[in-house]
Amino acid sequence: MKQGAKIYLDYAATTPIDKKVLKAMAPYFSEKYGNPTSIHSWGQEAQTAIDKAREQVAKFLNCKSSEIVFTGSASESDNFAIRGLLKALKRCKRAGEKIHIITSQIEHKAVLETCYDLEKENVKITYLPVGNDGIINLDDLKAEIIPETDLVSIMYVNNETGAIQPIQKIGRLLEEINKNKEHRIFFHTDAVQAANWLNCDVVEKLGVDLFTLSGHKIYGPKGIGVLYIRQGTPISSMITGGDQEWGLRAGTGNVAAIAGLGFALEQIKIQDTRYKIQTEKLRDKLVKGVLTKVSESQLNGPEKPKERAPHIANFSFRGVEGESLVISLDQEGIGASTGSACTSRALLPSHVLMAMGLSELQAHSSLRVSLGKYTTTREIDYFLKVLWTVVERLRKISGR
Ligand SMILES: Cc1ncc(COP(=O)(O)O)c(C=O)c1O
Repeated sequence: MKQGAKIYLDYAATTPIDKKVLKAMAPYFSEKYGNPTSIHSWGQEAQTAIDKAREQVAKFLNCKSSEIVFTGSASESDNFAIRGLLKALKRCKRAGEKIHIITSQIEHKAVLETCYDLEKENVKITYLPVGNDGIINLDDLKAEIIPETDLVSIMYVNNETGAIQPIQKIGRLLEEINKNKEHRIFFHTDAVQAANWLNCDVVEKLGVDLFTLSGHKIYGPKGIGVLYIRQGTPISSMITGGDQEWGLRAGTGNVAAIAGLGFALEQIKIQDTRYKIQTEKLRDKLVKGVLTKVSESQLNGPEKPKERAPHIANFSFRGVEGESLVISLDQEGIGASTGSACTSRALLPSHVLMAMGLSELQAHSSLRVSLGKYTTTREIDYFLKVLWTVVERLRKISGR
C-alpha cells in the first residue's frame, strides 16, 4: 500500500454511493424536479420514477409493489413497523386486553429503544437472550409465546457480529402457531445488514409480515428506507398529513433517494455471485490473520462462517480499549469501529456483546471490521500489519 493510503473497513456503518446509483439519482435533483403529487407533467415524471423504484423493490423482495412504503430511514421503518402495528391493533382490542411483543436483546437501537419506550405505555415486551454465538434459540422463542403475543421482531443479521438469525425457521414456526391461534402473531425483521447477501424473498422464503431496509447500507443514499407491509397487516400511519405512500406516510417523497434505492436493489439482484464468495474469502483471511498474528485476540460471534454474513467480523483484544484502537487505526488511515455506528459514541459496552456473555472488559476491547465491494486483498494484508503494531503499542502504554 502507498504511504498515506486510506482504507475503509466500516461498510456496516455505511457504504459509499455506487457511481451508477448516483447517475440514476442525478436527474431528480435538478432537471426532473417535479412534486410527485402534482398532476402536471413535471409531477408525473417524478411519480413515474417513484413507481419504477417501487417495482424494483417489489421485485427484490418478491412481493407486490402495493406492499412497499418508502420511509426516511431504517430507524423510521422499524419504528413504523412496531408502533404502526400496535396503534392499529389497539383499535381492535377490548379494554384492558394486553399487547405482547417478543424481540431479542441484540436488536439495533431502532427496535430496542422503541420497545423500551412502549414499555412505558404498559406494553409487555420479552427480550430473548442469545447464546455465546450471538444467535437466538428457537425453543426460547417458542417458550415465550403466550395467547396475547401480537408481534415478534427479530433482526436478520446482527450489525455488530454479523450473526445470521434463523428468520426462515421463525417464519415457519409462527405460521404453524398462527393456524391454531385466535389472533395472528405478526412477524417483523430488520434486514438492513442482510440485503447485500441473503435471500430477501419475503413471501416464499422468509414468511414475514414486515421487513425493514435502508438505502445507505446497499451503496445507495442516506435518508431513505423501506418498510414492506404484507397485504392485510393492520398498520396505522405514524406521520399524518398528505396521502403519499398509500396514506401511510405523509410528506413529499424524496424522489432522488427513492430512485437511488430502487436502482441499488436492482444492482444487488443482478450482482455476480463471485462478489459474495470473494468477500467471504477476504473475511476468512482477515479472521485467520487476526487470530494468528495478534496474541490474546478472540473472534466474537458464530464460529461457523456460514452462520455469519460475509462482511462483518468482530474481535476482542485483551488489554486494549476499543476506542483507543479505533483512533489509533484512524491515525494510520484505517477506518473501523467499536460496534454499531449509532452507539459507538456512547462509550458504553456493547449490549450485543454483553448479551453474548462477554465481560465488560472484553466488550470494551472490541473492534468491528466490516468489508465491502471495494475491499481488496492488499487492504486486508496492510490492515493486519498495522493492527498488530497498534495493538502491541497500546498494550505497552496501558501496561496490561
Ligand atoms: C441492523 C440495523 N438496523 C437499523 C439501522 C438504522 O439504519 P438507518 O441509518 O437507515 O436508520 C442500522 C444502521 O446501522 C442497522 O445496522
